[in-house]
Amino acid sequence: MTAPLIDPFARAITYLRVSVTDRCDFRCVYCMSENMTFLPKKELLTLEELDRMCSTFVRMGVEKLRITGGEPLVRRDIMTFFRSMTRHLDSGALKELTLTTNGSQLSRFADQLYDAGVRRVNISLDTLDEQKFADVTRWGRLPQVLKGIDAAQKAGLRVKINAVALKGFNEEELPTITNWCAERDMDLTWIEVMPMGDIGNEDRLDQYWSLKDVRATYADHYTVTDLAERTGGPARYVRLEETGQKIGFITPLSHNFCESCNRVRLTCTGELYMCLGQEDMADLRGPLREDPDSEEPLEAAIRKAIHLKPKGHDFDYSRQRADGQMSRHMSHTGG
Ligand code: 5AD
Ligand code: SF4
Repeated sequence: MTAPLIDPFARAITYLRVSVTDRCDFRCVYCMSENMTFLPKKELLTLEELDRMCSTFVRMGVEKLRITGGEPLVRRDIMTFFRSMTRHLDSGALKELTLTTNGSQLSRFADQLYDAGVRRVNISLDTLDEQKFADVTRWGRLPQVLKGIDAAQKAGLRVKINAVALKGFNEEELPTITNWCAERDMDLTWIEVMPMGDIGNEDRLDQYWSLKDVRATYADHYTVTDLAERTGGPARYVRLEETGQKIGFITPLSHNFCESCNRVRLTCTGELYMCLGQEDMADLRGPLREDPDSEEPLEAAIRKAIHLKPKGHDFDYSRQRADGQMSRHMSHTGG
């Protein structure tokens, strides 16, 4: 193991999120346009290159890997990659291997994920209404995802549901979704919609449902206690006294969580983004391909990049303008 990654603001980088594909079998309205142009396959890191990248980060102190996309489970042969990460769990260097998924492929892959050492999955689900689900995902079908969730729980995976808070869309479903998660012993986190990429003609400010209002809606239905606990990420938590549930809120727009940020993001083409809210990135594919027998150029490029990690981000929804608007899609950098 080499010296750990510490950024200029004394934050240790121990968490890497890796997007393994920009493709998805859904077209969620807040994420993609209906007609997406995806990257040509040759631009993507190969599965072997993804292994070299992640293994290098693990050697440099990364303890938690989250695999994202796009939809990671639509990448061909992705289980080979998951299985190749198992050795880092076995050695103890990697503490956790997780993924964020839309759930559509889980009935096929849940057991294999568990066998590879995955213990927790985040599943994106914004509504339990079949028609609304079809509307918001455009291409997705709810029963398939519910089957995937069943399979995940049956395989022994701990499930967290991520719901994007959308005004006038899933507002009234808040108690339904919350109770459904309680019954199934699944955690629930609400995510504020973020200004990412060109998604066609949906008006994002119309969709914006502030998590302050989501919390107020909870207070209409439950006794809500704020929890001090933070996990190094953007989430804040409340406890519902009636059910004992811990509900998460991810509010990247209305609060600054940057002081405790321990993460960086790798795109499927090998670009390292130091912050979700900044355009600054470093190309790691070049250094990776420079020498097939040595990770030295890659390690040097990673250290140089970490020194560019900014103190904070620039999202700002004040005065009803989407300032700090990002030009890239979530499916490019991973959610
Ligand atoms: N704002 C908030 N969340 C988003 N996601 C995708 N696009 C956006 C956006 N613009 C979420 C998905 C999923 C995770 C991968 O990112 O719903 O939970
Ligand atoms: Fe796919 Fe997730 Fe984007 Fe929906 S939000 S289109 S499921 S990547």
